[in-house]
Amino acid sequence: MISERMVEAINKQINEELYSSYLYLSMAAYFEDLGLKGFANWMIVQSQEEKDHAMKFYYYLASQGAKIKLYEIKEPPSEFEGIKSVFKQVLKHEQHITKKINELVDIAEELKDRATFNFLQWYIDEQVGEEENAMEILNKLEFIGDNKNAIFMLDRELGQRQYIPLVQDKEG
Ligand code: FEO
Repeated sequence: MISERMVEAINKQINEELYSSYLYLSMAAYFEDLGLKGFANWMIVQSQEEKDHAMKFYYYLASQGAKIKLYEIKEPPSEFEGIKSVFKQVLKHEQHITKKINELVDIAEELKDRATFNFLQWYIDEQVGEEENAMEILNKLEFIGDNKNAIFMLDRELGQRQYIPLVQDKEG
């Protein structure tokens, strides 16, 4: 049986993931405004994936017969200071989420909650990928600087990203 403390921590993480989805959607809107459709597409896919991360926690709590609680989602920033600055924020945000996931793992360990500990391993791996993706784009942006042609090439590349829905284990 999952403990109250673990349930509360996961409910808060659902909010973190939904905020992440909202933040990336706001970044998508910023890129739409700049006419950078590829960058916007990348962010929309990112936003959709964050919703899936929230739902994975949702279904886990449901499978445990735990009470799911949704908190208010705060307003994300809507003004950004350029393309590179956006991706710096993405990386910083993902590092924050990694810290949050690690805290959940610490709680599961402390409570000797093996089921949740196992469940969280997926998020540990996912966070490695999330930070890596942000760093990769940031490195490219550092490299190309203000070269407009290169930015349009990157825009085309990021426009290729496709959303693949996460297969959710609804049965628990
Ligand atoms: Fe849900 Fe981007 O971590």
